Amino acid sequence: MLKKMGLLTWGLGLTLAASPINATPPSDVVDLPQQTYTGRMTVAYALKVRRTIRSFKATPLSLKQLAQILWAGYGITAGPIFKTVPSAGATYPLDLYAVVGQNGVKDLPAGVYHYRPGKHDLKRVKAGDLRADVAGAAWFQKWMAQAPVMIVITGEYGRTTWKYAARGRVYVHVEAGCVAQSIFLMVQDMGLAAGIVGAMRVNTIRDRLGLPDKHQPLLVMPLGHRK
Ligand SMILES: Cc1cc2nc3c(=O)[nH]c(=O)nc-3n(C[C@H](O)[C@H](O)[C@H](O)COP(=O)(O)O)c2cc1C
Repeated sequence: MLKKMGLLTWGLGLTLAASPINATPPSDVVDLPQQTYTGRMTVAYALKVRRTIRSFKATPLSLKQLAQILWAGYGITAGPIFKTVPSAGATYPLDLYAVVGQNGVKDLPAGVYHYRPGKHDLKRVKAGDLRADVAGAAWFQKWMAQAPVMIVITGEYGRTTWKYAARGRVYVHVEAGCVAQSIFLMVQDMGLAAGIVGAMRVNTIRDRLGLPDKHQPLLVMPLGHRK
């Protein structure tokens, strides 16, 4: 698939493993399978059974499952820009990154991948299994690192504040919440599970994952098969 080749109550005691962090060529791009619109349950039932899950099996996801989840979170639904979630002034200030663990997704090497909604593909930002780094930066919420994949939702405030000034920052946060709920409902329908994490040292996560300076981590959603 590669074209080119209070806070501490949530968890303590993560032993940080040394994570391989390798620079990768910028042209590593992975095409994603198209989304499907058939599901197992009604939205009302998905809302009823949705929970924050903090325990996952090591079972990998398929690329199709990851694609479906990313599309649900921030995928294109109409025209070149309109997406699954609303956006103040259609400014779309968010970016989604998939932190894929070793054997986290079949046929996809461990690494950090940027989801590009317009192309519906992934661009690799960094190679290596960085889940323990993210869990460590989330105040050692050890459970996070069990999940085969984490979705990091980042916000670039300037994309919205140029239009709405200070109020734009609120809008960015609201939109991130919309993305999170879409992901929750999607994984529920797919027979998978997700957690949600807001407690984190954002600069550490951004640096470890190799994200652009302007992409402020807002939420992390570990996901996979529920244990
Ligand atoms: C913005 C936000 C931040 C959160 N941060 C964390 C977190 O860092 N760690 C965690 O385990 N749960 C976190 N949660 C999950 C809440 O603890 C959880 O939603 C709440 O206990 C209600 O449970 P439920 O989601 O299963 O209904 C967060 C939820 C939200 C909305």
